[in-house]
Amino acid sequence: MRRRIRRWPLIALWTVTLLLGAWVFLWPHPEAPIGVERRLVEKGYTPQERLTIRLTLDPGEVLALSVEPYRIDAIDYYGNPVYQLLSDHGYGGEDLTALSILDHYTALNLTQFEVMSSPQRILFDPYFLWTRFERYMALAEELPLASGRTLVERINTDRDFAYYTQIKPALGEGLSVLVNKYYALPSDFEPQPLVQASSCGQPTLQQAAAMAYDALCTAVKAQGLDLGSSSAYRSYARQAELYSYYVTTDGQAAADTYSARPGHSEHQTGLTVDLNAGDGSIGLFVNTGTYRWVSVNSWRYGFILRFPEDKTDITGYMFEPWHYRYVGIETATTLHELGITYDEYAVWIHESKRIP
Ligand code: DAL
Ligand code: ZN
Repeated sequence: MRRRIRRWPLIALWTVTLLLGAWVFLWPHPEAPIGVERRLVEKGYTPQERLTIRLTLDPGEVLALSVEPYRIDAIDYYGNPVYQLLSDHGYGGEDLTALSILDHYTALNLTQFEVMSSPQRILFDPYFLWTRFERYMALAEELPLASGRTLVERINTDRDFAYYTQIKPALGEGLSVLVNKYYALPSDFEPQPLVQASSCGQPTLQQAAAMAYDALCTAVKAQGLDLGSSSAYRSYARQAELYSYYVTTDGQAAADTYSARPGHSEHQTGLTVDLNAGDGSIGLFVNTGTYRWVSVNSWRYGFILRFPEDKTDITGYMFEPWHYRYVGIETATTLHELGITYDEYAVWIHESKRIP
């Protein structure tokens, strides 16, 4: 009897200690055991949802969730700050799910703009530019079914403005200069020095382009083919003459599809050459072995086909199989791999300040 009385407090102490230990071990958050669980039940979370919540979120997140109204996407919302940010901004559904993998910086940028329909189609495009976000949005509203590539390509090449309505100075300089229906050279621009290539019709070009042309000529001849030049450097005045001649004979709308207005011709840069197969004809060039070889290999010598058949609505010119532009071997190689127009590439390099 005396022994039993002495043991009693010890057993009680052990039991309390064990219970306390289990409590601390099982419920890491001091507030968690009763309050949080009870609140989750009250908010309407099912036992399955509560289990998932416990297993997925950390205690602080569970606590935050437990004092807010029920939401079916509670795990994503409380577990992913990017999801929460974009959800609070107004994104939902499939767009929110797709956007929730964005990095925090990009998501934060996105919240600077109004909610748009599936912004992921433009954000995940490799040539997406923040500087043009509102323009992508406006075009997306006009063309709701357009792919991200179409939207980004058109905006990056300024196609939301009609040709010749938004004219800026030529973009960049030297070998990378961009001249097209939006970017113009001044009337007094004349590249220096201009030299004559020494082979294959001896076109007049900037030094680096002339040397590359000679290398191209050697390579074409090594194939048993011939190469010639129909036109290379043209001054502003010469381009003005040509353009007005075409307008007179063909009408302006037609002329604009194959002749640049003065200041807008790449020929004025001294980096462009119209090729032929040694017979002087540009019209028949597309049917020649020289064209077939050059169209596949020109990039190795730093030249690119500037007005391809599948990009007429971007370049603003009909397919010109003869018109090649020197951009240097490195850029030509990149463009050969990317398959985008020089119009888009030059703008993207300039505005993103990133090398692909
Ligand atoms: N034929 C090209 C577009 C030019 O005139 O420059
Ligand atoms: Zn040309």
